Order: sequence, then structure tokens, then C-alpha cells
Amino acid sequence: MTKPIHAVLIGAGNRGAENYAPYALQHPEELKFVAVAEPLEERRKSFAEQHQIPVEMQFESWEPLLEKPALGEVALICTQDWQHTAPAAAAMRAGYHILLEKPMANKLEECKLLLQVSQETERQMRICHVLRYTPHFKKMRELLQSGVLGQIVDVDHRENVSFWHMAHSFVRGNWRNREESSPMILAKCCHDLDILPWLLGQKPVRLASSGSLMHFKEENAPAGAPPRCLDGCPVAETCPYYAPHIYLEMAPFWNSIADTSKGFTRWAAHQYTENPEMMKALSLVLPALRQMTDYSGWPLTILTHHPNRESITEALQTGPYGRCVYHCDNDVVDHQVVMMEFEDHASVTLTMHGHSHYEHRSTRIEGSHGRLMAEFGNGGSWITVDEHRTDWHQEFDTSAELGSGHGGGDFRLVENFLASIRAGTFEESLQGAREALESHLLAFAAEESRLRGVFIERTWWA
Ligand SMILES: NC(=O)c1ccc[n+]([C@@H]2O[C@H](COP(=O)([O-])OP(=O)(O)OC[C@H]3O[C@@H](n4cnc5c(N)ncnc54)[C@H](O)[C@@H]3O)[C@@H](O)[C@H]2O)c1
Repeated sequence: MTKPIHAVLIGAGNRGAENYAPYALQHPEELKFVAVAEPLEERRKSFAEQHQIPVEMQFESWEPLLEKPALGEVALICTQDWQHTAPAAAAMRAGYHILLEKPMANKLEECKLLLQVSQETERQMRICHVLRYTPHFKKMRELLQSGVLGQIVDVDHRENVSFWHMAHSFVRGNWRNREESSPMILAKCCHDLDILPWLLGQKPVRLASSGSLMHFKEENAPAGAPPRCLDGCPVAETCPYYAPHIYLEMAPFWNSIADTSKGFTRWAAHQYTENPEMMKALSLVLPALRQMTDYSGWPLTILTHHPNRESITEALQTGPYGRCVYHCDNDVVDHQVVMMEFEDHASVTLTMHGHSHYEHRSTRIEGSHGRLMAEFGNGGSWITVDEHRTDWHQEFDTSAELGSGHGGGDFRLVENFLASIRAGTFEESLQGAREALESHLLAFAAEESRLRGVFIERTWWA
């Protein structure tokens, strides 16, 4: 029997406690958390209880934990974007291999510094580019590498952030301010800027970008809209961003699942948005429905540690998520396009916007011998390939099990990281870290181009 790898968690928030750490509960033979650092008492205690961490191994911040001789082999760094560099560097220097949330850091020089620390300390640094581990993008890569499309000429890849996710994270929430958190192209699209070169097996040589914040501004506020949705908003019945509609009814969330899933899930998610009471009654005899009717995960856990009608309402009355989207202190873009030329001269565009009806990424790749189209959504994913000469059409269902974070990418990333720690393959991990850094440098280059209105050549970032 293998001995579990011992881990410490820095930041027991949504990503750390809710998305990665449950892997240890499902696979106790592989991973065991032995310490946690988290300032919020409720989160710290609840994590410690779930993972049976003794009180002397519970810390209010990462510094005292990382001052100790290493307590395990790996550290998961899951703090906010602007709080990555110091604990990540300290953890590697203390002897831990790290699983570091993306973005590596929100400043270009700090991203470079972290790679340097990984090299110096010979500690593995895995960035949480979860898309690489999904069945969807793995299949897409396999198809591209099989040569079925011939020479790749044009790629149109879109990160369609849904209107409600945009409002939640990038208008009301943690990633609303460029300086405090990250430029949105870094926060949201370092994944896409990682996956595109990985899929195509080649790098961009130049890029240009444009975009702005168009909609979520004071000047677009409906007449008479108060600072908070619950303060008698005159457009409560019609505004898509009305906070109780998003967080109490959760209709947009379930619509996003319905719009990208099939069969029973599609039917159930649609029904649930239209007739929640009937579905709650049905869940008494159909336990599968309870995944939906008893749902209390993200984004609700960002508002309150124990989501229920009362605690959510209170959060909407007092916290940031009840604010009118037109009266927030946001400045990140709500749409941006990055146009890239790759080594083989293929033209590749990445479009990111925050006004999608439902949450998904979509990809269209045109080659000399065929076309690939794909959609990666919260409820399911698919890829199709059409060959020019034969008109042969193939379809692939690349959906992961429902509820598995990022189309199955979250758990598969942890699994892969642990395997790499056991194998001790530092050189391979260093190559991965270099590629992760490159995706971040591309995002910084895109932001530079957007702000200055110029093409940026590879020499700027390479
Ligand atoms: N890989 C992905 O696809 C993906 C998806 C979403 C978010 N993220 C990234 O994950 C990171 C975490 O996001 P989140 O949504 O979990 O945020 P979160 O706010 O829910 O969690 C961060 C936690 O860090 C804690 N913290 C703050 N100061 C600390 C300190 N000094 N020591 C220890 N802990 C401290 C906070 O109290 C909080 O609980 C962000 O960088 C975010 O951009 C990645």
C-alpha cells in the first residue's frame, strides 16, 4: 500500500478547500492534509474538522506555518491572485513542492521570480492550468496531433463568460479591479493562452489586443436604480443582474448547466429553473435530483459559509454581492480580443467577453484538410470533426461527470501532480512551469497591447 503524500493548505477558500482538498477525502491513500493556514476562523475550523487536523497545526496565516521545518512534501497555495508570490516562494524555500493557483502572480516580474525560485530550490511548481487535464482538451489535442485537419490555418477560440459569472466575479467580486487583483485577460484567460500553444504544438510570434469595459458602468444604470438590488430597485423584475435572481433563484446558474448538457440533466435543470417547488417534491422519490435541489456550492459559498435563504439574503443586504452592477468599483474589461500569429503563420484569435447567455468555451479550427468545432460547458462538452474530401463527420462526447470541477480538470490535475511528486520528475515539471510562465507572459503582452494600441513581438515576452 502506498503512503499518502502529506500536504499543507495555504488558503482554505473556494479553490483550496472546496475543489482540490476533497481529493484527499476521496483518496486518503494518496493524499493527507496535515496543516492549514487560513485567517477566516470559520473556514479554518471547518477545513481542520473535515481533514482531522490538530489544533497546533491550524494557523491564521501562512507565515508561521512556513517558518516551521517542512511538515509534508507539498503545499497547495490557494490564496488570492495578489497573495501568491510570497507564500509560494517561501514554501519552495522551506522544501515543499507546490501546487500554485493561477495566475502564478499578478505582476510579470513576480511570475518570473517564482520560476527562478523553483529552479534554484529544485522544487516542483505546478500551476493550476486545469484545462490541460480535462478529457475535452486532451481529446482535442489528440485529434490535432493526429493530423486529421491537415495544416492548421485559422483558430477562433472563445471564452464566453456568462453574464451572471461576469457580474459575480468581475463586477461585484474578487476580480473586479485590475490593480487589486489582475487584468481580466490574465485572471480568466491565462488558461486559454496556455491551452492554445499546447493544442497547436507551436508558439505565437506576435500579437495585438483590444477591449474595454463597455457595459458595467454608472452611465448604463437604469433610472432610479439604488446602490443595492434589495433597496427597492425599479427594474427588479427585468434586470438580468438582479442579485436575488442570481443567488436565491439561481436560474441563470441552472440554465448554464441545462444549455450545455443532455438528457436527464438537461431536462431536470430546465425544470428546476421553471418549477423549483415541483422538483423539490420530486427529489423525495428521485434522489439524483438532490444534487440540484440541495445545491449549496459555488457561487453561494463565496457569499456565506453556510448558504441558506436567510444567510444569502443577509449577504445581499450587507455584502458586495448585493450591489447594483452599475454602481460598483469595477474597472476590468468586459470584452477583449487577442489576435495572434503563430510560428507556422496560422492566425489565432482568442475572444473573451462577459455577456454570454451561458457559460462555455467554444473553439473552431480550420485546417487544409478538415474542420474541428468544439464546446466546453458546465453541463457537458463535445467535439466534431469534418473532413473536407470525404465529408466524413465524427462526433465525440467529451463531457465529464456532472459537478466535477472544470470538466473533470480539478481532480485530474491533483492526481497528476501527486504522480509527478512520487516520480520525482523535476526536469519535466520545470518544462511545465516554463510553459505556464509563457502563458502568463502572453497575457501581460496582450494587456500591454490593449493599453498601448500596438502589436507586440515575441521578443517582448520570450
Ligand atoms: N484554476 C482555476 O481555474 C481557478 C478558478 C478560480 C479561481 N482560481 C484562483 O484561485 C485562487 C483562489 O481563489 P478562491 O476563489 O479560492 O479565493 P477565496 O477568496 O475563496 O480563497 C482564498 C483564501 O485565502 C485566504 N487567505 C487570505 N490571506 C491569507 C493568508 N495570509 N494566509 C493564508 N490564507 C489566506 C482567504 O481568507 C481565503 O479563504 C485565486 O488566485 C484565483 O484566481 C483559479
